[in-house]
Amino acid sequence: MEQVFVKDLKQHLDKEVLLKGWIYNLRSSGKIMFWQFRDGTSVMQVVVSQDEVDEKIWEEAQKVTIESSVVIKGKVTKHPKKEEYEVQLSGLTIVQISEEYPIGKKEHGPDFLLTNRHLWLRSPRQWAIQRVRNVVINAMYEYLNNKGFIKIDAPILTPNACEGTTTLFEVDYFDQGKAYLSQSGQLYIEAAIFSVGRCFDFGPTFRAEKSKTRRHLTEFWMMDAEAAFVEHEESMKIQEGNIRHIIRKVLAECDLELDILKRDKEALKRTDNEFKIMTYHDTIEFLRSKGSDIKVGEDLGADDETILTAESDVPVFVEKWPKEIKAFYMKQDPENPAVYKCSDLVATEGYGEVIGGSQREDDYDLLLERMKKEKLPIADYQWYLDLRRYGSVPHSGYGIGLERTVGWMCGIRHIRETIPFPRMISRIYP
Ligand code: 4AD
Ligand code: MG
Repeated sequence: MEQVFVKDLKQHLDKEVLLKGWIYNLRSSGKIMFWQFRDGTSVMQVVVSQDEVDEKIWEEAQKVTIESSVVIKGKVTKHPKKEEYEVQLSGLTIVQISEEYPIGKKEHGPDFLLTNRHLWLRSPRQWAIQRVRNVVINAMYEYLNNKGFIKIDAPILTPNACEGTTTLFEVDYFDQGKAYLSQSGQLYIEAAIFSVGRCFDFGPTFRAEKSKTRRHLTEFWMMDAEAAFVEHEESMKIQEGNIRHIIRKVLAECDLELDILKRDKEALKRTDNEFKIMTYHDTIEFLRSKGSDIKVGEDLGADDETILTAESDVPVFVEKWPKEIKAFYMKQDPENPAVYKCSDLVATEGYGEVIGGSQREDDYDLLLERMKKEKLPIADYQWYLDLRRYGSVPHSGYGIGLERTVGWMCGIRHIRETIPFPRMISRIYP
């Protein structure tokens, strides 16, 4: 008999099926037992009734504990009132009887759950989050491929910093001295656009960031996209399209998952509308009018980001930031050399910055001057400067943080739950 998956149960109504999975929960009342059975695709109820099965099977069934792994056979029936399918057990093979499972029905603190992350991943909420994450990843690839971006893999071990030197993880690299774990693949995919025009990377990135916030991990996944002959304004359009495509895909494919997570779907639907654009200076003024004590020249804090979109159904691009608080590679605005042609996209409902993007400085002299001002080791970046010597073109790109985007889609405040095995300042286990 071929294995059937719980998600497809409906197609097998009134038929005998074979399923393989785990007992998520169980209760019994005398001559009948009810198991919540999960197989990775979904959860269903299995009914074991003493009158319907052999004595031997009934005996075996008594041994089953929470999280035991089993292979079962049975007939698919439909709940008389609800759109729910269950299986009336007729055959049972125990694969392993689970020891007493440490994650029970009582409330556990986050520390306990994080230490048991390898087990916590099995719970319905965590199952739902990882499935949404998968849909977000695929939506990202789909959107970019349709827009003519091809995937180019950037290296993880790098000789130089991309996003400032204060958050680098160092590695001893044979007799070459120090290497650093990548903070973003951007600089490398900038090189690749001169070959393929439009490209993106998608992989783990690292920041030795001392910030212990709900939005910071030391290892997280980023998608960097880069396009030749695209300027700042067009880049924001591409970014908006990218996020809206993700939202649509999540709404279309994750109905059950969003229900499990109790996500406000209406709020997500309203987000699929034209995004707002505000300059950094207008943003500061707006925030101050709402009671924030932020000053020009400062980065937005989490509270500021929350205030910014509190009354907005759609995300807000904050554009044209002062040079002092942004990265060296951004293009200075010819109309106002004090600011860069760049933007951060701030999500709705207080989920904060999800994208950082900019047009890149394509002028050799301006870029070199900026790098010298920031005291970057020019020799390590010679290859990057070369891109401005051989057929330089206006170009722009952006980086989307996967965990922040998944947190937003799922309605989860702390992004540590959005990655299978979170890495934070005070946690590397499991
Ligand atoms: O704004 P960031 O630092 O931009 C860059 O790294 C650019 N090189 C991207 C580019 O233009 N190609 O990071 C991009 C995004 C942020 O908006 C945020 O969503 C996420 O990456 N991010 C983090 N996510 C989790 N933990 C951290 N410590 C993060 N730092 C950034
Ligand atoms: Mg940023």
